[in-house]
Amino acid sequence: MPEPCDLLVRNLAELVTMAPGAPGPLRGKVPPEALGLVAGPAAVAIGGGKVLAAGPERDVAGAFSPRETLDAEGRVGLPGFVDPHTHPVFVGTREDEFERRLAGTTYQEIAASGGGIRSSVRRLRAAPPEAVRAAVRAHLDSLLLHGVTACEAKSGYGLSLESEVKSLEALRDVARDHPVRVVPTFLGAHEFPDEFREDREGYVRLVAETMIPAVARAKLARFCDVFCESGVFDAAQSRRVLEAAARAGLGIRLHADEFAPSGGAELAAELRASSADHLGAATDVGLGALARAGVTPVLLPGTAFFLQIPPPKARRMLDLGLPVALGTDMNPGSSMTSSPQLVWTLACVLLRMTPAEALAGLTVNAAHSLGLGSECGRLAPGYGADLLLLDVPSWRYVPYHFGVNHVDTVVAGGRVAVRGRRRI
Ligand code: NIG
Ligand code: FE
Repeated sequence: MPEPCDLLVRNLAELVTMAPGAPGPLRGKVPPEALGLVAGPAAVAIGGGKVLAAGPERDVAGAFSPRETLDAEGRVGLPGFVDPHTHPVFVGTREDEFERRLAGTTYQEIAASGGGIRSSVRRLRAAPPEAVRAAVRAHLDSLLLHGVTACEAKSGYGLSLESEVKSLEALRDVARDHPVRVVPTFLGAHEFPDEFREDREGYVRLVAETMIPAVARAKLARFCDVFCESGVFDAAQSRRVLEAAARAGLGIRLHADEFAPSGGAELAAELRASSADHLGAATDVGLGALARAGVTPVLLPGTAFFLQIPPPKARRMLDLGLPVALGTDMNPGSSMTSSPQLVWTLACVLLRMTPAEALAGLTVNAAHSLGLGSECGRLAPGYGADLLLLDVPSWRYVPYHFGVNHVDTVVAGGRVAVRGRRRI
């Protein structure tokens, strides 16, 4: 007797499940077998928002009697992308700074002269809550249309208790009825705001002693992040912030060694952070420490590309057996993209990862870094039913044909959220 199910997606020309192995991250080099590739026709059965079965259509279709059927019309199926590093709580954009950088001014020079993050802070502070919510919704919609079904999302353009809370409340309110699953991160230590330029100590104290306890009490964030970098929060200041976060029960992530070796990787290792992100300037000692501590490196090649800064040593990290994850870093300054598909290409070309390693970084390993390794990133029984249908001849075609969106359909948590490239 076939089992009832809510939705059967059938007629997939190819299905990548990422699921042949045991749950857990994919450490080091990723062989193509780890993709769990099913040749078509393939199908996915979904019930209660979860995957019930994924595999050859002749096995799956016979075992279920679906309430609804979706014909994939020969598209390729992938797990929804998990984006482990985004900054979607911003209003206004900074294309002026892009042009200044093209004319020779550096990202850090722009930041030191009052632009950069601080210019986004001035705009966010001035925006009413409904404008912040509208911006967050637009940014999550864009991620969703590009195939993101779960993302980490940081505050960090408020930099006062009031505006950080406004940012995290906007995330919470929009996430309530948005198909993208949002994991919120408090990033009060993103920069020193204008009014604390001469009292950095005072700002670290405000973040550690007032903002973190308030955010944790209100359950507005799962993680806390710090921009640990020369000229921003040094390793000692970052440590104070992150130790306060750990005491308040928050998980820890770091922007570490993006521009200069700043002790960020070493600090991430010592504090057993869930992730150390960027790492373009991390030392070999820092990378060794990450490997020994089992910290997930989250690499953001969109940022290295867009700021023209040295990319992280992904191959070295893979050789060390690290579970490399990849994200967009979507933000208005250093990486204004919401496309994991573009990140996939950049990971291959700039970081020399194989297409299979990069796909593991955008799914299984990204989910692991968010503590969601047994809930998303794979299409296996019990995982969330987050499935993409792409207009491509095979999964390998996606990073090859770059700069366009291949996603036709997005199923998020078992519901069809995008069909024919449109939000429904
Ligand atoms: O990850 N490095 C710090 N934060 C962002 C940039 C934020 C901005 O420029 O607005 C990043 O690159
Ligand atoms: Fe970032």
